[in-house]
Amino acid sequence: MVRKPVPEDKFSFGLWTVGWDAKDQFGAATRPWLDPVASVHELAKLGAAHVTFHDDDVVPFGSSEAERERILDAFRGALAETGITVEMVTTNTFSHPIFKDGAFTSNDRRVRRYALRKILRNVDLAASLDASTFVMWGGREGAEYDSAKDLYAAHQRYAEGIDTVAAYIKEKGYGLRIALEPKPNEPRGDIILPTVGHALGFIAQLEHGDIVGLNPETGHEQMAGLNYTSGLAQALWSNKLFHIDLNGQKSIKYDQDLVFGHGDLFSAFGTVDLLENGFPSGGTRYDGPRHFDYKPSRTEDFTGVWDSAAANMSTYILLAERAKAFRADPEVQAAVEEAGVLSLATPTLAEGETLADFLADRSAYEDVDPDAVGAHGFGFVRLNQLALEHALGAR
Ligand code: GCO
Ligand code: MN
Ligand code: MN
Repeated sequence: MVRKPVPEDKFSFGLWTVGWDAKDQFGAATRPWLDPVASVHELAKLGAAHVTFHDDDVVPFGSSEAERERILDAFRGALAETGITVEMVTTNTFSHPIFKDGAFTSNDRRVRRYALRKILRNVDLAASLDASTFVMWGGREGAEYDSAKDLYAAHQRYAEGIDTVAAYIKEKGYGLRIALEPKPNEPRGDIILPTVGHALGFIAQLEHGDIVGLNPETGHEQMAGLNYTSGLAQALWSNKLFHIDLNGQKSIKYDQDLVFGHGDLFSAFGTVDLLENGFPSGGTRYDGPRHFDYKPSRTEDFTGVWDSAAANMSTYILLAERAKAFRADPEVQAAVEEAGVLSLATPTLAEGETLADFLADRSAYEDVDPDAVGAHGFGFVRLNQLALEHALGAR
């Protein structure tokens, strides 16, 4: 039995996830449109604490001012009735044909100016709903052909766009931080800022990078053949893990957006272990919402939609329980010690040791027998098997 999620678990869902009508490139919608108000009620019943959305998920693109206000009023009503809060807002700068060559990096300056206005409008909305994070996924910021884009200028325009939004947030005194979401490809052939590492390098060049961090997604890193947990680790070490998108992906292929754990399950165990228990020797922790960005499969009716929403949370809870048991197991602790995992936190140079001291230390080099040191095994496989046995509930 899995315990029922509670708001303290901080589970959060994008309204575009459960609300997806399951239209894909090869086929028509298999489910009717779902009113965000209904989604908020249903997610509250399942035990979620928050929702997130793109402007267009709630207010259809092109709605009049009056229509926008009417829809937002009904949405605010659902929030008040259920106690669900909006922790993150994002802007759709990828669906409408105007964004076919990108938003901040479109070759057409009119598009860049339009995108900036659309985004700033939603920064205001995010602040008015007390959201703490503003996600920016630049899905159309990229190209199919190297000759199509001046990539130097594209990085400049991207930085200009993000810095302008960040400056606006500061000027308005909003309690918002921007979280960039990397993805290697899809819908563009190649997307600018393809991975966590690329995005961290980009943020370091920004003028207002202090309020810009990351929203890494499980499947996006895995589409690039990378280890999601490692990406989270570097983002944490850089104090840039502002938000997360959890889902499932089976290896390098199209963005599958499966339920969390329905892709690489053992990797999901590692992710939850890091999120729930932190690094073995301490360091920055992630304390934000456990946000799911998945798609209920096209084969599912509404029963399947809500089952899959619940499945994300159940899987997370189960893995969190297993990860706690893993860390608490004395046999694991001994194996961790044996593997030198905790020893890595000891600085390589001694406190106050100068470079001259170090170079004079014969025990560091001249007296070392590399063959003897190299012969020592670390026991990583045994430790990994202990992790696997915990993940499978065998311990
Ligand atoms: C995708 C992305 C999006 C973003 C969303 C929020 O691959 O489609 O993951 O779902 O997360 O647009 O910015
Ligand atoms: Mn995705
Ligand atoms: Mn995402």
